[in-house]
Amino acid sequence: MLRVIEPVELKAEQEASLKRPPMKYTSLARALFKAMDLAYGPATILPKVRLLEILARIPYQAWETRQYALLSTRFKNPEDVERATRIVHWGREAQDNEFWHLLVIEDKMRADGMRESWFRESVMPRAACFKYVWFSRLLARLDIRRAFYLNAEFEDHAEHTYMKFVQDHPELETMKVESAEAQRMGPFESWADVFRRIALDERDHMNNSLRFCGMEDRIVPYLHEKKVG
Ligand SMILES: [Fe+2]
Ligand SMILES: [Fe+2]
Repeated sequence: MLRVIEPVELKAEQEASLKRPPMKYTSLARALFKAMDLAYGPATILPKVRLLEILARIPYQAWETRQYALLSTRFKNPEDVERATRIVHWGREAQDNEFWHLLVIEDKMRADGMRESWFRESVMPRAACFKYVWFSRLLARLDIRRAFYLNAEFEDHAEHTYMKFVQDHPELETMKVESAEAQRMGPFESWADVFRRIALDERDHMNNSLRFCGMEDRIVPYLHEKKVG
């Protein structure tokens, strides 16, 4: 399930994302969104997004660890091996992609000269990671399907958040991308396109989460896939 960057029409996809209503989030997802809003305020700002990207890799890491633990006893069952292997491969690929998001946001903050307080820079990410690691491990152990669905909710929220961020910041449309890290997945003509690409990555993550929940009917296709279909 390697992620292939299609020559998608990023602006058209942005319109499609903004037209699509968000999922009906569960109370657990809403509580976690609320916690972020209480810490950073309701507006989408880069420091808030950076913390979300730090946290975004954690569930994938928890699933990978959990699946390997299961394989210690289930390696004789080919179906279990196949499913666990697929989850591990997807988790690794998604982690790498989320890490790219994190590096890109960091580059953008540096380019903008944004500086955070020591508390927000050092204490808050560590505290949030500590709690979220244990929460994700527990959920992966108790109910992996619920873990996938919660992740689908987060990714849907992230896609909408990034697309709205671009809409609310038209200056990004003409802002050149000097970041070599961002251009590694490009070429991108503007920061608006970088954030649109990140938003679509989040959609990919949501779709894969739904796939592993057995909810293929809720997958959101790209516009060019709809035309082919
Ligand atoms: Fe991300
Ligand atoms: Fe994501």
